[in-house]
Amino acid sequence: MRIGIIGSGNVAYHLIRVCVQSGASIFVHARNQLKLADLKSEFPTITCLESADFTALDIDLVLISVKDDALNTVFNSFTYHPNTLVAHTSGNQVIQPNGRHSNVGVFYPLQTFSKSNPIDWNTTPILIEAGSEVGIDLLEKAATLIHAPFFETNKDQRKAIHVAAVLASNFVNHLIGKADSFLKSQDVDYHILQPLVKETIRKAFANPPFDVQTGPAIRHDRLTLAQHLKQLDADPLLQKIYTDITESIQKTSNLDTNK
Ligand SMILES: NC(=O)c1ccc[n+]([C@@H]2O[C@H](COP(=O)([O-])OP(=O)(O)OC[C@H]3O[C@@H](n4cnc5c(N)ncnc54)[C@H](OP(=O)(O)O)[C@@H]3O)[C@@H](O)[C@H]2O)c1
Repeated sequence: MRIGIIGSGNVAYHLIRVCVQSGASIFVHARNQLKLADLKSEFPTITCLESADFTALDIDLVLISVKDDALNTVFNSFTYHPNTLVAHTSGNQVIQPNGRHSNVGVFYPLQTFSKSNPIDWNTTPILIEAGSEVGIDLLEKAATLIHAPFFETNKDQRKAIHVAAVLASNFVNHLIGKADSFLKSQDVDYHILQPLVKETIRKAFANPPFDVQTGPAIRHDRLTLAQHLKQLDADPLLQKIYTDITESIQKTSNLDTNK
């Protein structure tokens, strides 16, 4: 398979890495020439592209993996062969077909990517969308090439999954970061929390999460809740987050007991 990748960020890096490993012919375009040179030295078999005209390259699939807000600008600044499927990796965005190219799709890997952390593609679901059966077949072939499970979704399902992913992954990571900063002020290493966090995640996927909610909010332990807010005095935004999540936990548990 001949695959073009536009971008040189976290997702593009891991896609290039796994596609090269799987033996595909990889063409890369990136606006950042330093990052492109680094990619070429790490993956010497890739072809670096300078031209924005891909029509003569006989590429099956182009994956655009850039910042969401730049997706359509980047899509519109290249020319593709009509048979090339152009897909993006965003959980939220849509490529708007322009007058020149309408063969578009989605190849959204539902995972958190940081360049320095390896990806287990075998357990990374790829959400795929395309306007034709031929397009879906090609995206399935690409997911199979990198040994990733794939799921055909529609736009609304993908966007809903993306919101859920932000809540369950990005927000949880941010709260762990906040816990780390807070503990540092007391000279405590946040790894003391690791068994607790691991067990919380395990339990939340082994049970309906609201059935296994614990903590002062669900118990309505007012003295402890007030103490905690006082301890967070130095960070008013975190105090607000604490208050809002406490309210959400209590309102959700009221709904449960009213069932
Ligand atoms: N990271 C994740 O965990 C994750 C997971 C699933 C899907 N995604 C999606 O994958 C896509 C890429 O995310 P990422 O995390 O890899 O982003 P990233 O690491 O921030 O990289 C963004 C890339 O977009 C390029 N870019 C930014 N603005 C541009 C513009 N105006 N014109 C051309 N290129 C531009 C950057 O180029 P420069 O280096 O020159 O700035 C860089 O190559 C996004 O659609 C994101 O929603 C991300």
